[in-house]
Amino acid sequence: MRLARHRRLAAMLCIVLGAGGCRDRVVEFEPDAVLRAVNGLTAEQSASIDAALVELFGSPNEPRLPADLPRMAELCGLAALEQAAGPVASHEVGVVHGLYRRHCARCHGVTGDGRGPTARYQAPYPRDYRRGVFKWKSTYRDAAPTAADLDRVLEHGVPGTAMPSFRLVSQEERDILRQYVVYLAIRGQTERVLVDFVANELPAGEPLEFEGDLRDEIVADYLTPIVNRWADAGTLVVEPSPEPPRTDEGLLVGVEAFHGNIAGCAACHGVNGQGGAQGMANYQVDYDIWNRDRLVLKPNEELQRVLARDLPVRPTTPRELVEPGSGGLVIPHGGASTGDLYRRLHQGIAGTPMPAYGSLRPGERGVLSEQQIWNLVHITKAWMEKDPVPGD
Ligand code: HEC
Ligand code: HEC
Repeated sequence: MRLARHRRLAAMLCIVLGAGGCRDRVVEFEPDAVLRAVNGLTAEQSASIDAALVELFGSPNEPRLPADLPRMAELCGLAALEQAAGPVASHEVGVVHGLYRRHCARCHGVTGDGRGPTARYQAPYPRDYRRGVFKWKSTYRDAAPTAADLDRVLEHGVPGTAMPSFRLVSQEERDILRQYVVYLAIRGQTERVLVDFVANELPAGEPLEFEGDLRDEIVADYLTPIVNRWADAGTLVVEPSPEPPRTDEGLLVGVEAFHGNIAGCAACHGVNGQGGAQGMANYQVDYDIWNRDRLVLKPNEELQRVLARDLPVRPTTPRELVEPGSGGLVIPHGGASTGDLYRRLHQGIAGTPMPAYGSLRPGERGVLSEQQIWNLVHITKAWMEKDPVPGD
């Protein structure tokens, strides 16, 4: 009732203020124009995908939880999504609606595509949630982050990047924002598989008719696994092995491993982690997946048009692990504890060229032993914190 009255009021205000005042009321999720152009979809095919997405997930002002995907309710509640969505407003004392647009959209975009109005000026760019890939997490490389991982990012931000801490936002509101991030990620991943399905499984030019048996098949084979990956993330947490004591001998072995061929850290991070690896013979300029998505060898005309308006593609920069000069310390983006660094080395950094050195699945062998990983954690931490290292 209250909401309906509010909408009527807003509509009247629109008439009074003219069209400019109502732009918020027609906000739509942006189609992934790159993906659709890469796959050469027709306008009709694209529209059929948009219709399916609206039916499943609703709009930025009126989110929906698809009934076909019951496990989504384990990850996000409709009441939370409704409070995070929509324009910023307060209809009841103390309850703020539109939390996502208030706190996040200027960087991450209304769609969660990492293309908010301020994104262009940031390095790294704000995360594009639509791939469901996140960097600073505790799970196996290919797994989704846990709720605790996202909560931590929201509480502490990503130090050393534009991603701020939201410690001043209440725990309850952060909880709501996390659920909305998961919703946007699942919606984005759904868009990706639908585009893929239309491009590769349907006869050329045929639009998606998202109903009947075809709908059941797509939900079972493509959409349910997306949601299961999120719902099961908690079972795929990597627990660091017991940390051995840090010794001078271990540090020296770590330095050697850092420059050796098996770990190959120096090829990206430079001699003693000093950066500048770009000059080294075996360094190859590389891109994270969010940028790589747009590196198409022979872009068609539509894609050229889309890319011209898009954020400039940028190569990844392996971190410098020591600050030049005698001053500051290096702040790791994913947390500075030895446990955090262990996870960075064990599973690498998802979506980026930083490789995993531990096993990629429970029970498998990794590239390095636990002891070797700990030696590298200790030497990395010593460099970052400017601790004296034997032999320097
Ligand atoms: C001033 C810009 C800015 C604002 C505002 C902002 N972010 Fe971010 N966010 C970033 C940047 C930049 C990154 C990428 C950091 C990186 O790649 O290490 C990021 C990354 C993230 C990540 C990914 C972390 C990971 O593990 O990969 C999440 C989740 C996130 N932000 C959620 C939010 C939410 C929710 C809000 C609003 C409450 C928000 N952000 C507001 C800039 C911003
Ligand atoms: C193929 C290139 C590559 C190799 C090999 C590589 N890294 Fe990285 N590393 C990267 C990139 C790229 C980043 C930055 C990722 C980002 O933040 O987007 C990074 C980031 C890091 C970070 C920062 C983590 C944080 O929380 O910010 C540490 C520490 C690190 N690497 C250590 C190592 C060590 C130790 C090795 C060898 C065992 C290694 N790297 C091997 C590319 C590489």
